[in-house]
Amino acid sequence: MFKIINKQILTKNIKRLDIVAPRIAEKVLPGQFVNIRPGATDETIPLTVIDTDQAKGTITVIVREVGSTSRVLASKGINDKVASILGPLGMPAQIKKKGVVVCIATGIGSAQILPMCRALRSVGNKVVGIIGAKTKRAVLMEAQMRLACNKLLIATEDGTYERRGMATDILSDLMERDTIHQVNAIGSADMMSSVCKITKRKRIKTFVQLNPVMIDCLGMCGSCRVVVSGKTVLACKDGPEFDGHRVDFENYKIRLKAFEEQKWDSPRAQSSHGKNESKTLTKLFSGILKS
Ligand SMILES: Cc1cc2nc3c(=O)[nH]c(=O)nc-3n(C[C@H](O)[C@H](O)[C@H](O)COP(=O)(O)OP(=O)(O)OC[C@H]3O[C@@H](n4cnc5c(N)ncnc54)[C@H](O)[C@@H]3O)c2cc1C
Ligand code: FES
Repeated sequence: MFKIINKQILTKNIKRLDIVAPRIAEKVLPGQFVNIRPGATDETIPLTVIDTDQAKGTITVIVREVGSTSRVLASKGINDKVASILGPLGMPAQIKKKGVVVCIATGIGSAQILPMCRALRSVGNKVVGIIGAKTKRAVLMEAQMRLACNKLLIATEDGTYERRGMATDILSDLMERDTIHQVNAIGSADMMSSVCKITKRKRIKTFVQLNPVMIDCLGMCGSCRVVVSGKTVLACKDGPEFDGHRVDFENYKIRLKAFEEQKWDSPRAQSSHGKNESKTLTKLFSGILKS
């Protein structure tokens, strides 16, 4: 069992949890994730590790409540325990000195990109962060991103904070004015595919983080298949970071939609262990059939 020693409510449905997991804290690298089972009878969910504290032996995850399992985890409090944590999982992000690196993120991506910003800066890059959100209240991790980046720019769709518009508008403007050597993007499939379209024109190396639905996170179930450079690869083992110009985003969007259509978080799917197991199986077979 893994104890939660700190909890912060970031927005109504987004919570930060610091969980004691010393062996994972020791090993985890930027871009890697863990697979968490909140209670013994719950499903597991993959979450990016956004920070560690070696002295306390903790890992920090940010969880957005979207369905039954993320809600159970987010409802846990300080001193509660998490049944299991598997990790670190996935390939670490590529952290090299390139020059000027833009880290652009929307939604929960603003939390997921944080360890990359820190690592990219620590090896000597000038890191420009861009956060996009619908409103001022939806801007996540602003203080942490300001510390992690050399410069942070924010766009809100309704204009309630900093620049009105989309995060990609800021990126397009920056590309006109400055030389950019690399872009890292984490957000929705639409956002990451727009970023790649923009950067491809100027041949700027662009990394994206793909978060398809994952079940075992060990490369055995095949639920996280994505197409990169025309080949089917597994996001849990070969990713989650990929060269964005080689990703087949249309295929990625279809696979994400295939799971959405099943309405996983219906009350019937939440009520018992047996039903959680059948929910997992339905997800798995749906992923296989709709690929
Ligand atoms: C490598 C990786 C890292 C992730 N890191 C984070 C993180 O740091 N913080 C965080 O809040 N979430 C993260 N996610 C997404 C998180 O794992 C899902 O939100 C969670 O599994 C949903 O489970 P659930 O049982 O609560 O919802 P479900 O009942 O399974 O699904 C509810 C709704 O959410 C959608 N959904 C489920 N899984 C995903 C997914 N992977 N991507 C997009 N939509 C999904 C479903 O289509 C459905 O509409 C990550 C996913 C991956 C693959
Ligand atoms: S989640 Fe990647 S193969 Fe199962």
